[in-house]
Amino acid sequence: SATVENVSVIGTGYLGATHAACMAELGFNVVGVDIDPEKITSLSAGDLPFHEPGLPELIRKHVTGGKLRFTTNLDEVGAWADVHFIAVGTPQVRGGTGADMTYVDTATTDLARAITKDALIVGKSTVPVGTAARLADLIAETKHPEVNLSLAWNPEFLREGFAVEDTLTPDRLVIGTTNTHDEDTLRSVYAEALDRDTPWISTDYQTAELVKVAANAFLATKISFINAFAEVTETVGGDITTLADAIGHDTRIGRKFLNAGVGFGGGCLPKDIRALQTRVAELGLDHSMRFLDEVDQINLRRRKKTVALAFDTLDQDVIGKKIAVLGITFKPLSDDVRDSPGLDVAARLFNAGADVAIYDPQGNHNAAKRYPRITYNDTLNEAVTGAELVILTTEWDEFKTLTPEDLNHKVTTRRIIDARNVLNPHHWENAGWTFTQLGRQSPHD
Ligand code: UDX
Repeated sequence: SATVENVSVIGTGYLGATHAACMAELGFNVVGVDIDPEKITSLSAGDLPFHEPGLPELIRKHVTGGKLRFTTNLDEVGAWADVHFIAVGTPQVRGGTGADMTYVDTATTDLARAITKDALIVGKSTVPVGTAARLADLIAETKHPEVNLSLAWNPEFLREGFAVEDTLTPDRLVIGTTNTHDEDTLRSVYAEALDRDTPWISTDYQTAELVKVAANAFLATKISFINAFAEVTETVGGDITTLADAIGHDTRIGRKFLNAGVGFGGGCLPKDIRALQTRVAELGLDHSMRFLDEVDQINLRRRKKTVALAFDTLDQDVIGKKIAVLGITFKPLSDDVRDSPGLDVAARLFNAGADVAIYDPQGNHNAAKRYPRITYNDTLNEAVTGAELVILTTEWDEFKTLTPEDLNHKVTTRRIIDARNVLNPHHWENAGWTFTQLGRQSPHD
């Protein structure tokens, strides 16, 4: 196969910016392409519109070193790159549940039209099954007749907060192709990972597309599974953390993603399980993924439960009472508040008339864009001072290590809901706090 030297990445959002920087780190000449000129300017300076540890440094390193640049000019990369990665978004459609394919479709046809040099297009976006085959047809219709272009599918499994690490040292590489030449091209792109014996799964388009959504559906199901048991232990007694530890010791089950609490959020899991259900329904297979509707419902009930616990703790009257909400990103090490359980809880309490004070080490800015009327504090201290209730909704390290002594003389009344089950109940109860978790009994009950 032709040696790959020049790589383009179309779409410089979370996935694309990370992929572009990591491809440069692997030694390729990389150009990131985006339709938004402002994004191009700020990315070139290493300024990212989101928080991702290590990524700004990696971008700056390779922009300075000349391996990485950003452009809005598709024609330029069409004449230059050997491999083009498509990394644009597939958001949930407005007012619907399916994936919005406009960006992927437009990027693919615009790219195919711009390419004047034989190349491989590689889809990385999370898409409904059947997309790659459809795009391959679109490419064949759109491309210049004299150019050899083909399509491979290579889903991405990166986690926010670990995006660089997950991209440079993935658990596995999944490659959907229609011929061995394209597979060989990708083997040379990922030679470094192959040298480390990273599992290489070579398959067809459909499997490659489905691996991604199956992985996310499984993770979501695992979380809702344990949260469904939390609903049971809340009623009959029992301890969800001990239960998770005990079943997690069975290596067939595993302890990861069995942390009960306020549930999953973010830009991927909620959207992906809904898009998957919508896609299989289109295929006449509604029944196959119906359980994912339950997974979604269990997850959303945990948010309502957390709000209900706040009402219970405050004797069913939240109006005008100060509630400190600690953590409103969907998870730690991120500034992402998309579909965030913590922000949802805060907004519901705010709408019910509570005086909500939010503190998050990274997320205040993004949350304020969505709910500008809620109070955002720059310090934990401000948020908890005078609070009648503290709710921990994202397990940032600085919250996990909180002790009653840190808060005793700041709050008005000693009440805390630990909606991530990360604090030690005994410490708080012993210091005179009303202490509540999800799926666990109070030690004094
Ligand atoms: C996820 C997948 O992990 C990743 O492989 C995929 O590429 C994108 O989607 P991400 O959205 O970054 O990544 O977050 P993840 O770490 O998976 O957490 C998702 C949500 O589940 C968070 O809100 C987290 O708080 C929640 N969660 C996770 C739990 O509630 N309990 C758990 O045990 C684990």
